[in-house]
Amino acid sequence: MSLDFNREPEFPPYNVYPPRWSFDNEKAWQLYRRAKREQWDEQDINWEKVKEIASGLDRKQRLAIAYWWSLLSTFDNATPVFAYALVKSHELHLDTAVKGVITTITYDENRHNVMCGLAINSVLPGYPFDFKPQDDLERKVKLNTLWAWYNGSRYWKAYLEAYSKYTMDVLFTSFMMGEAAATTVFSTMSKGSKIEEFGKAFKNTAVDETRHYAFTHLIMTSNAASMNDERKKLVSKQVRAGFVFLSLITYRPPKDFWRLPPWYLEVTEKMEDLARSAGFYIPEMKEKEEAWRTAIMRVGATLGRYGVPMPAIPELGITGEEIKDLKEDDFVPVF
Ligand SMILES: [Fe+2]
Ligand SMILES: [Fe+2]
Repeated sequence: MSLDFNREPEFPPYNVYPPRWSFDNEKAWQLYRRAKREQWDEQDINWEKVKEIASGLDRKQRLAIAYWWSLLSTFDNATPVFAYALVKSHELHLDTAVKGVITTITYDENRHNVMCGLAINSVLPGYPFDFKPQDDLERKVKLNTLWAWYNGSRYWKAYLEAYSKYTMDVLFTSFMMGEAAATTVFSTMSKGSKIEEFGKAFKNTAVDETRHYAFTHLIMTSNAASMNDERKKLVSKQVRAGFVFLSLITYRPPKDFWRLPPWYLEVTEKMEDLARSAGFYIPEMKEKEEAWRTAIMRVGATLGRYGVPMPAIPELGITGEEIKDLKEDDFVPVF
């Protein structure tokens, strides 16, 4: 191929080159600056103190806390999710500040994921892979973690494919439900935790998730006006997908999507009680329902302003657009 160097080169589409910078989109710049300001270090949590407290708990209580963190990591294993979104945002040459915010979310999610690992390592090192169950309950607990993660692998497959099905604005709005739910979960857990160090970790995580929510909100509000009805329908569908996916830890897994052992819920509830008895605050079912209702109302209020119909969430008695065709490959949301 001969190149005419007297002419400007032609750049291929969907390529991260050429670099180009934009300095408008003040709202995104504000968020980017806020993200840099609000950084914190998961290694500043006094994990030695957590270890000390854990040494005073019995085996089942430690297992229960490690189990909860393992479930959380299904959703906070989100570094690659945002890293992939970051690559795509560069290929599509989104605003400089938007790419900057996604870079910080990638970093945030890595921090959340490392935090899950540090928490597990402080209460029950080696869980779940090196954990040797001593009775049937322990065996089921370990299997629950592994099967939750198996569903995560199904999510990941769908997520990668979602980029060929959805536009960037729909994709980012898909994260909205998750971030809204995460904000509520982490702030209630930080307030209730009797283990001070966990309280701190949750409080800091809530700060991050609040910012992530603000980002999805910004994307939503700057794109919704130009969305056609078909795209709006996809957004409603993704809000429902968010509820279904994140309910594993924030509520109870609905029938759609999840493939879990038949004992999943019973064993999880047992573990939650044990964790509570150790001072590890997990909201009760009623509180979880309330938290979801708040999150859904919040997202719904925004969506409604742009004529995006709210999906029905019959599990919570919320009426709206019925989403019947939610398939395995529709899952984009994450924390
Ligand atoms: Fe997040
Ligand atoms: Fe997160």
